[in-house]
Amino acid sequence: MRATIRALRIGILGAGTIARVHARNLDQIPDAQLVAVADLSSERAKELVGSRGAAIVPDLDRLLHCELDAVIVCLPPFATAGVIARIAEAGVHLYAEKPVGLSLEAALDDLDCVRSAGVVSASGYMWRSSSLVRKACELLSGRAVGLVQGAVITAAPPPVWWRDKTLSGGALVEMATHIIDLMRLFGGEARRVTCVGARKLLQSAGCSVEDVAAATVEFQSGAVGSFGLSCATSGGRWSVDVVASNVHLHLNFFPEQMSGNCDGLPISQIAEVTPFIVPHGFSGATSWYWSLYQFVSAARSGDPTKVGASFEEGVRTLALTLAFEESLVAGGAPVAVEHIE
Ligand SMILES: NC(=O)c1ccc[n+]([C@@H]2O[C@H](COP(=O)([O-])OP(=O)(O)OC[C@H]3O[C@@H](n4cnc5c(N)ncnc54)[C@H](O)[C@@H]3O)[C@@H](O)[C@H]2O)c1
Repeated sequence: MRATIRALRIGILGAGTIARVHARNLDQIPDAQLVAVADLSSERAKELVGSRGAAIVPDLDRLLHCELDAVIVCLPPFATAGVIARIAEAGVHLYAEKPVGLSLEAALDDLDCVRSAGVVSASGYMWRSSSLVRKACELLSGRAVGLVQGAVITAAPPPVWWRDKTLSGGALVEMATHIIDLMRLFGGEARRVTCVGARKLLQSAGCSVEDVAAATVEFQSGAVGSFGLSCATSGGRWSVDVVASNVHLHLNFFPEQMSGNCDGLPISQIAEVTPFIVPHGFSGATSWYWSLYQFVSAARSGDPTKVGASFEEGVRTLALTLAFEESLVAGGAPVAVEHIE
């Protein structure tokens, strides 16, 4: 793959909440230029562009006519079908927000296109780009992991589509998938899962999303894990505990910090506050920045291994997430996790 010497010409597809975060981070990344924004709503696109001087277009077709090197896909889950394949086939690098689809079959078709096009691809599992996650991987390297335990206790996001499970995929697919991704990162590929869930706490009319869930996982290595989810409170926590030989790590992402012990010594670390990263109301802001920074570096150098979470990792995490979802729908029955070549 050839390196790009000039600034990377980037387009954003979908100009909502997460697109605003990415646009502000792009402003801080050297050698990256936002040149076009596409949204069904020209108002939203206009608001995102602001004084950046980027073109405003209504859809992906027009976006792909803007001589782009890369596209950041920030569409709601229900609108992503076929989008990744079209970007890859146009020879354009892509950063796909999570979840990378609502069906594994469609995501695997996208992955085929990404692989055969040979473009640089990333998925929005930004915590893989956290310095604390990197440190945790170093500490765990060469040790047998025994237990991985996740927690997502948070509020339901504001978009209207989020509460309609047919549009968002539900709380596991749209939300817990971040923690499921880290459970895969630390525990390795999974063999079998169970999950139960219920609608207990969210009162809004028309809400079809389970707002509490509890799950178990058996990893191929023989390690085991579990997570709990609730999305009907303010505040809360997004965390993962990992227990391996002579190590216990507790990572919490709101704010990003790690504690625990390793070989008898205590560990206590807080993610560095990086002054040039613009705060945007979310705790954990640095991971979003570094995830995009790594993607831009990978795309400019033509080295796909530089991304934090590849599109392929996103598809593997989707497979595991959908296995939890299948078990939930089946009332907690064990479900084998799809193996991806
Ligand atoms: N990585 C993270 O932590 C994180 C955080 C928030 C959201 N997300 C993900 O980002 C995606 C978008 O979420 P959001 O909260 O920004 O949603 P949003 O509803 O705020 O924004 C989505 C935008 O896409 C536009 N849109 C919808 N269909 C379109 C189409 N076919 N063509 C062009 N534009 C279209 C809408 O008009 C809207 O402006 C979701 O998949 C969500 O899971 C990731």
